Amino acid sequence: MIENSLKDLEKKGSEKNQPLLVVDNIEASYGPFRALFGVSFTLNYGSSIALLGPNGAGKSTVARAISGLIRPGNGHIYFRGDEITGKDTWRIERLGVAHVPEGRGVFASLTVQENLKVFLSHAVPKKLMHEKIDEVYSFFPRLKERSLQRAETLSGGEQRMLALSRALVAPPLLLIADELSLGLAPILSQEVWSSMGEIRKKGTSIIVIEQNIDQAKAFADNVVELSRGKIVESPSI
Ligand SMILES: Nc1ncnc2c1ncn2[C@@H]1O[C@H](COP(=O)(O)OP(=O)(O)OP(=O)(O)O)[C@@H](O)[C@H]1O
Ligand SMILES: [Mg+2]
Repeated sequence: MIENSLKDLEKKGSEKNQPLLVVDNIEASYGPFRALFGVSFTLNYGSSIALLGPNGAGKSTVARAISGLIRPGNGHIYFRGDEITGKDTWRIERLGVAHVPEGRGVFASLTVQENLKVFLSHAVPKKLMHEKIDEVYSFFPRLKERSLQRAETLSGGEQRMLALSRALVAPPLLLIADELSLGLAPILSQEVWSSMGEIRKKGTSIIVIEQNIDQAKAFADNVVELSRGKIVESPSI
């Protein structure tokens, strides 16, 4: 089960405008290749950041470092004041961080329904499972029509809806959405953005990585721009 639910946070109600996530001077490499050179930024509870920059700038690497998919070589990451640098992905997820990675973010060989069961098993009690899956289907009727279809046979847009559905029904404290609208037809892209808006309304903080700069800037409270693994101090975009 998720240890820090949004409900607990609402009960406390004292954390608004406090840092939820602090990324402090992180460096990261893939073998001999250095991808990040001291990246720092802070995200407050309930707010959102657009993480922008050209291809290869290091955006997905930052996302992977936060969610524990890679271990930074140097620097620190704090979530709710506790250091999470280099912790296992599942531990970070349990603290309330949901990362929808570039590409699919779903289990290709499982059906839509099976994917939902896996996603939700960490987040909701068993007896609420059916109710929560119905909630996803009422938000994305397209997924209901395809509930018995294997995820690998869904269209790109449908796969992203499926990947986002967990955050919709069990809102995490932090959602990291890596290029969710990339390559989608405008109408599907709108559906993805509107579901992110729904997730935000529930109080989730969001890091949105995007190629569509205008859309990302319209959505987010702040912009962090990366170039060649470094933060651009005065964002040009
Ligand atoms: N698994 C890997 N092995 C080696 N190098 C990698 C690996 N993943 C990323 N890189 C390199 O690290 C750099 C940063 O990659 P990253 O994926 O973080 O960029 P990005 O900003 O997300 O780019 P894009 O907009 O194209 O998704 C790139 O030069 C990339 O080639
Ligand atoms: Mg990327």
